[in-house]
Amino acid sequence: MIDDLWYKNAVVYCLSVGSFMDSNGDGIGDFRGLTRRLDYLHGLGITAIWLMPFQASPGKDDGYDISDYYSVDQRYGTLGDFVEFTHGCHQRGIRVIIDLVVNHTSDRHPWFKEARSSKNSSYRDWYVWSEKKPANANKGMVFPGVQKATWTHDKGSKSWYFHRFYDFQPDLNTSNPHVQAEILKIMGFWLQLGVSGFRMDAVPFVIATKGPKVNKPVEQYDMLRTFREFLQWRKGDAIVLAEANVLPETDMEYFGDDGDRMHMMFNFHVNQHLFYAMASGDARPLAAAMKVTKPRPATAQWGLFLRNHDELDLGRLTEKQRAKVFEAFGPEKSMQLYDRGIRRRLAPMLGGDRRRLELAYSLMYTLPGTPVLRYGDEIAMGDNLALPERNCARTPMQWSTEPHAGFTKSARLKNPVIDKGPYGYDHVNVAMQRRDPDSMLNWTERMIRMRKEVPEIGWGDFSIIPTRDPSVLAIRYDWRNNSALFVHNFDEGPREVTFVVGLDDDRDLHLINLLSESHSRADDRGRHHLMLEGFGYRWFRTGGLDYLLRRSDIDVPPPGRK
Ligand code: NOJ
Ligand code: CA
Repeated sequence: MIDDLWYKNAVVYCLSVGSFMDSNGDGIGDFRGLTRRLDYLHGLGITAIWLMPFQASPGKDDGYDISDYYSVDQRYGTLGDFVEFTHGCHQRGIRVIIDLVVNHTSDRHPWFKEARSSKNSSYRDWYVWSEKKPANANKGMVFPGVQKATWTHDKGSKSWYFHRFYDFQPDLNTSNPHVQAEILKIMGFWLQLGVSGFRMDAVPFVIATKGPKVNKPVEQYDMLRTFREFLQWRKGDAIVLAEANVLPETDMEYFGDDGDRMHMMFNFHVNQHLFYAMASGDARPLAAAMKVTKPRPATAQWGLFLRNHDELDLGRLTEKQRAKVFEAFGPEKSMQLYDRGIRRRLAPMLGGDRRRLELAYSLMYTLPGTPVLRYGDEIAMGDNLALPERNCARTPMQWSTEPHAGFTKSARLKNPVIDKGPYGYDHVNVAMQRRDPDSMLNWTERMIRMRKEVPEIGWGDFSIIPTRDPSVLAIRYDWRNNSALFVHNFDEGPREVTFVVGLDDDRDLHLINLLSESHSRADDRGRHHLMLEGFGYRWFRTGGLDYLLRRSDIDVPPPGRK
């Protein structure tokens, strides 16, 4: 059971093939290069790789504009290379999930070409059309400031087509049963080639009603159950990790009351409040965000992340809170994007301050859910704000001090390697950090190792332990008669806190530090006193000194319970 629900205690590493490792010197990362780096990823300890889109694509939205779902883009290799890659992953016990981008296709996809060729085309109804310019043609853009409209005129067929994203990404008519059947077929294809599931792109838009008269799209949640059912019939342990930046009150619609819809969702709500907590030193709104996103079915799981390949969307915060985060982490216009977010990588946002970086990642590993790292995070890579839009945080992986950071032998790069300033590859690279026991890379490896040994986080129920200090967040997890406790100080100054664990048995007495020798013993009133340094954090397990020996590993939970 524990291992079957592998995603509950996984550590996911997300990467795009094109920027990871180039094997043939053409300046573009490829599957062969990535396969050669699997031992590195295995050593880091990650248990699953999330691959961003790698299928044939004109590449106008970094692959999120697919022109053939059943292929590997030639620049990255062949289907054969893909299978070698998944095989290499399985040999090392690493699972692979891939992006499933089915809200829209590229305008170069043969389906769209066919659909626009004539109103009588059998593919016409695969997309969303209007005879006249819809009244809301300039509303609902996802990329405000860059994207001009959501409906664009098609000269050939003298009508308008709908696109929630850029105009080269026409929306599929996902209510059409033929389109739905094709989505399942795409899933089935990649499952057969060895993947363990999908990061499903833009889920609220996939399931929304679409059309010229739709002013308030309605989510057709039943569709999610159809995806889930198909997946489970084909491959019992395959999952969907949904990208759905939705309000907490709709979370359960996505998970399904009976846990029959999405297995995982990214926790955007916690993500934004986490950045607010780091910007303000006040952890209370984060604690509140954790509480409202607590309800979920026993088999469901949150995906926890800090930064991803998109901008840090701050749309959920109040105006005041958002202003605080902008001021702290993205004060200049060039750092901001789409009127709502920050486009930088985490390390430059936090001023390269190791204490703050450790605080942030320690939280990512210990907040309720499964951590999702982004390539380059493990060495604290930087960004290049001279690149347009989100590309600034998509530069090639920095492997060594060799030319082009050892990523490629070519000088013709789409996104150049960062070669200047404190984040240039001569300062920030894997080879140097590998040799330094105190490096970010080795710290990350140690944290991942410990995270995997504390399944209470992924499986357990959490409660917030009162510390009476707004800057200090203490979270307790309970699972199968084991408890773990994590304490984080969001303030830059030291804090002294007193708290009781509250288990009411002998496990209250000793808190065993999982990361160092400084354990904590309760006073005679059962209280623990902790002195936390600025941005300090502690990982504890309660009970005996042999902290890795869990107390009742073989208990089988009653059905329906975590
Ligand atoms: C969400 C992806 O994360 C983003 O990168 C992409 O541009 C849009 N979906 C459209 O596919
Ligand atoms: Ca290449």
